Amino acid sequence: MPRRQLLLFPLPFQGHINPMFALAALLHSRSGGGDGVDFSITILHTTTHPITSPMHPSYRYVSLAPVDDELSNSNCDRELPPIDEDAAMHIFHLNARYQASFRDRVSAMLEDAEEEPVACVIADAHWFAVHAAARGLGVPSVALRTGSAASFCSFLAYPLLMQKGYIPVKVSVQESQLNEAVEELPPLRVRDLFRMDEGDPGLFAELLAKVVAGVRNSSGLILNAADSMESAEVDKIRRELAHIHVFAIGPLHKFTPHAAQPGQLPPDRTCLAWLDAQPAASVVYVSFGSLASLPGKHFVEMAFGLALSGRAFLWVVRPGSVRGPRGGAVETKLLEGLEEMTRGRGRVVEWAPQQEVLRHRAVGAFWTHCGWNSTFEAISEGVPLICAPRFGDQMGNARYATRVWGIAAEVEGGRWERGRIAAVIKAVMEGREGREIRERARELKQKLAVSVSREGSSHAGAERLVDYLKSL
Ligand code: UDX
Repeated sequence: MPRRQLLLFPLPFQGHINPMFALAALLHSRSGGGDGVDFSITILHTTTHPITSPMHPSYRYVSLAPVDDELSNSNCDRELPPIDEDAAMHIFHLNARYQASFRDRVSAMLEDAEEEPVACVIADAHWFAVHAAARGLGVPSVALRTGSAASFCSFLAYPLLMQKGYIPVKVSVQESQLNEAVEELPPLRVRDLFRMDEGDPGLFAELLAKVVAGVRNSSGLILNAADSMESAEVDKIRRELAHIHVFAIGPLHKFTPHAAQPGQLPPDRTCLAWLDAQPAASVVYVSFGSLASLPGKHFVEMAFGLALSGRAFLWVVRPGSVRGPRGGAVETKLLEGLEEMTRGRGRVVEWAPQQEVLRHRAVGAFWTHCGWNSTFEAISEGVPLICAPRFGDQMGNARYATRVWGIAAEVEGGRWERGRIAAVIKAVMEGREGREIRERARELKQKLAVSVSREGSSHAGAERLVDYLKSL
């Protein structure tokens, strides 16, 4: 049988690119295998967000140009706000601009006798229009959902949650209402529901409905989640989507842990040498992922909270971490002051080699916004969390980390002040609560290690996925 292509199309954001590249590395490593069925990896990317990686020369990179006339009948011919304020609008925009371009390029590939035949399109679940276009071309499509299984359960439950009035969550309502339990999705409270506090809630609900419809109509769903951690949630998805293949194969990055991910900035590797000089489990690693930005006053409290905690820290401050036109100036001034206050106890970088940092013995806790990749990467290394969720799936991830897995403490949004921050850092790094959290984090790490080992459920899921792709 001739070699066939797998077309992989990540959503062009770091938290979506990383798991897609981890999946690419996994599939690439399983190609061949003596059964005569072989496939190659083609990465599709957009000209507006090019994604290529010289570290993976064996992949082919195909760039798609936007087709602007599709914008006229879409939700998105307005100026785009920052992504962390209205992710839904960005995602509609991408789907509208690239559907035709994807269809035309793949259709040309299918007609070209020189091209390797296309076995399957594996696109991010948020590329709903791409999944529809693949179906239209008669090519099987499989969705990669990069979030937790629990977060996809909230996607599935969204219409019901809206009908029952839980959503849209009104941030202005009383604290007691925000703390109300959502019966349909235990252990979530209203405040933990998947949402954006800014932007149009109707558009957000429409996006989730389109994502779910796209997944229902595809041939399969890959979850970056593990049965051993979220068995009830994975089962629920399998029951609801019994007509398609569901593969729970996380944590994806643990299958090929050293596969490089193309990053938005070059990682500052000097922080690894700095970590080498620190005692075991002594450093708080702080990063809020690739998208979140903070109001200046939150940034100030963070800096003072870190100083007051008395702990060593490694803090990722991306350019643009502080909101507003004067954000850069606030950042610079504060970081200079912080350096003075902490006398070399801290290290600030613009972008860290995060997976390596989390594997480092000197890291004792991770203060995170609870993006799913950050959460899963930390859990895979047994690193306890200090949760400070901002938007989207992050509140739900924080709830599971504190309540279900017991591996985290939370800096609640309403109590974002230096004394509270320092107290939470100390509670996780020292004392009885900290010891218990660390013990549970170690146990969960072991469970995940088993999941990706030969005996584990994620390993078995990955084998089923490879067999399925080879069968197409
Ligand atoms: C976004 C959403 O915010 C998140 O809630 C959702 O689950 C996925 O999409 P992001 O905010 O970027 O993602 O966070 P996260 O999911 O944690 O992904 C960030 C990725 O960037 C991680 O894989 C992390 O290892 C990497 N990273 C981050 C670095 O390599 N270096 C850094 O300095 C910071």
